[in-house]
Amino acid sequence: MSRKPIIAGNWKMNKTAQESAEFIQAVKDKIPAKDLVDSVVGAPALFLENMTGAVKGTDLQVAAQNCYFEEAGAFTGEISPKALSALGVDYVIIGHSERREYFHETDEDINKKAHAIFRNGMVPIVCCGESLETYDAGQAESFVGKQISAALQGLTKGQVASMVIAYEPIWAIGTGKSATKDDAQKMCAAIRQVVAGDFDQETAESVRIQYGGSVKPENIAEYMACPDVDGALVGGASLQADSFLALLEAVK
Ligand code: 13P
Repeated sequence: MSRKPIIAGNWKMNKTAQESAEFIQAVKDKIPAKDLVDSVVGAPALFLENMTGAVKGTDLQVAAQNCYFEEAGAFTGEISPKALSALGVDYVIIGHSERREYFHETDEDINKKAHAIFRNGMVPIVCCGESLETYDAGQAESFVGKQISAALQGLTKGQVASMVIAYEPIWAIGTGKSATKDDAQKMCAAIRQVVAGDFDQETAESVRIQYGGSVKPENIAEYMACPDVDGALVGGASLQADSFLALLEAVK
């Protein structure tokens, strides 16, 4: 089965509204056709309205970096998945290690968020990944497998088949120390096995799995050559228009 590659930038807490608008202007006419690759920018919630407007009619898609699992109510400061969907947001990144670590997002929260994102017609990009300590102890596969089983609980096969999983070893994020292609392949294959066990083989063959952690234009091709790696979730190298476009060029 052939899975369409998906490259997603994760800007994290970077850029102003003005800078985000300049970025979209610089890239929007150079995005590869959507039938070749899904090209996504994950931006701070503050800019999403402008961005979904600016990408209309182009092949660029927009992701939020977080949302809450309730649609509305007394949840001061939270981001409604219903409101994101109404803005035309396509994807929501959930379970990033930074959110797990600094904002105490739990496996249960992530699972509820995945359900809420689907309820509101968007696609979750569910992040997982182990610490260096867990990696060194040889427990990466079992640790990540548990994160994925918990995140996907109660979803339908069809939902899982259509979603995106991002394997991001914490020790490779923002460190310049990217995982080897063998490690990335082994972990993405292991995640696919977990999906096959929890759902079925067909679902596992459909779900797209990204590698993330110090991905750059210079190394993306070696990850994309791995049979179980379907794309990348990219932090630092997604911030500049030139390097974001170079990532897409390397994949299409
Ligand atoms: P870097 O590409 O900056 O290592 O960040 C990876 C990441 O956390 C993307 O979500």
